Amino acid sequence: MKRQSIVAANWKMNGSFGLVTEMSQGLASLKLANDVTVVVCPSTPFLTALSDAFEHENMSEHVSVGAQNVSEFEKGAYTGEVSTSMLQACKVQYVILGHSERRAIFNETSTQVAHKVKAALDAGLIPILCVGESEAERAAVQTETVLASQLQPVIDEVGIERFSHIVIAYEPVWAIGTGKTASPAMAQETHEFIRSFLAKSDEKIAAKTSILYGGSVNAKNCEELFAQADIDGGLIGGASLKVDEFSVICLAAKGTQ
Ligand code: PGA
Repeated sequence: MKRQSIVAANWKMNGSFGLVTEMSQGLASLKLANDVTVVVCPSTPFLTALSDAFEHENMSEHVSVGAQNVSEFEKGAYTGEVSTSMLQACKVQYVILGHSERRAIFNETSTQVAHKVKAALDAGLIPILCVGESEAERAAVQTETVLASQLQPVIDEVGIERFSHIVIAYEPVWAIGTGKTASPAMAQETHEFIRSFLAKSDEKIAAKTSILYGGSVNAKNCEELFAQADIDGGLIGGASLKVDEFSVICLAAKGTQ
């Protein structure tokens, strides 16, 4: 089954205009494998500069700009929020939704995440939908229940057919920013579960959905993780702030499978 490989950079609340220039120049010289897409997701103030820099370097085909969040509302009295049309004005194509930091720190619920996914899809943006269990949930053997409870509201809200325009990122919370990566076998097992969960609604869509792994991916462990049958790339936090290291990770993404 041919699936798109994606390596996405989640800068979180880090980065600068300097990093925008450095990253776009660094990525411009990479020879990415066919079917590999790189998505860089900086904070909102850097989106337009990054889009312009990618355009300037003529990289629009394999390299895209993504946001880290979007409002579920169209417009109005929502101080501090950013709408889908505003992201489009910044030439954004992807948007990370339901990141565990948004769920834990900003109390986003799976229902709200589902509304955001719908808003993004309606605007033609591709959601990178994050799911993942905490350390306590894994210890209590609740990983599959938690993942199902994060995925089902989105399926209910938008319908399984629209997963052909959704990318999933499996990020075990205990592996994010901790240096504790899931072993390739453990990550593969969970990715397989996510795919089988989607397959219960539609086998063809499940087979085509790109599922990225995230959580302490670095230049050393990326190759083995990306070699797993159901891992279609990665969502990279800390290591995406270093151009050299992020480049190595982009080059490790397998192309057509
Ligand atoms: P990390 O973050 O690579 O720094 O663990 C991943 C993420 O939160 O998306």
